[in-house]
Amino acid sequence: MTPGIKPLVAGNWKMNGLNSATGELEKMRDQFKSTLSAKIDLLVCLPFTMLAKAGDLTSRSPVKIGAQDCHSEIKGAHTGDISIEMIADCGGEAVIVGHSERRTDHAETSTQVLQKAQSVLHWGHMAIICIGESEAQRKQGDTLDVLKKQMSESIPDSADNGEIVIAYEPIWAIGTGLTPTVGDIEEAHRFMRSYLVERLGDKGNAIRLLYGGSVKPSNAAELMAIDNVDGALVGGASLKADDFLGICAAYE
Ligand code: PGA
Repeated sequence: MTPGIKPLVAGNWKMNGLNSATGELEKMRDQFKSTLSAKIDLLVCLPFTMLAKAGDLTSRSPVKIGAQDCHSEIKGAHTGDISIEMIADCGGEAVIVGHSERRTDHAETSTQVLQKAQSVLHWGHMAIICIGESEAQRKQGDTLDVLKKQMSESIPDSADNGEIVIAYEPIWAIGTGLTPTVGDIEEAHRFMRSYLVERLGDKGNAIRLLYGGSVKPSNAAELMAIDNVDGALVGGASLKADDFLGICAAYE
């Protein structure tokens, strides 16, 4: 937690979900209590194919929807790509950029991540920029250096019209059931905060810093109570409404 910052719990459905089965999303919409929505923001980042329907389903609810990637251009000759304008057209308000699975599967560089983030921010939307070390980097004691390099290369100097959110996701904690110790997360988030304040001045104090990697209902309260952890980016446990809302309950 950071005093004065409204936490954000964001789901990342990855390559899961069909328009013929939106029951879990509807349950999240129907069961996300207004008392809780006053305290935290809830976002579900869906596959592109579900955005339009999800946008309709959640349009009059506090549940926000977003995407998991976008192209850095708004339109043009980029076969198979999707722009922030198209995401916004479906009701999407946020985009995850630079997730480690995209950095690995699609060889995305920090420069590309920066350009994607700039496009989202220029559109006035939220860019959730992901950073995090590999298991080998942690074992070598390089974690903070890796985070610093990724932050310096992938975070824009200005939030433009939108909102910058940073998600710290140790690669070895994603989908594995493993999480860093409370002390390790605290150290990483304190380091991120001081980097941001040094670079962006007081604006760095207002940026939401999410933790991601094997967050579940049973560990959420402990993880969300850590200093400078302003919410979670949740993969597997965001697919089921009971689990996802169970994580949100850490803020009740
Ligand atoms: P996980 O994924 O919660 O399934 O570990 C987190 C993520 O990849 O964003």
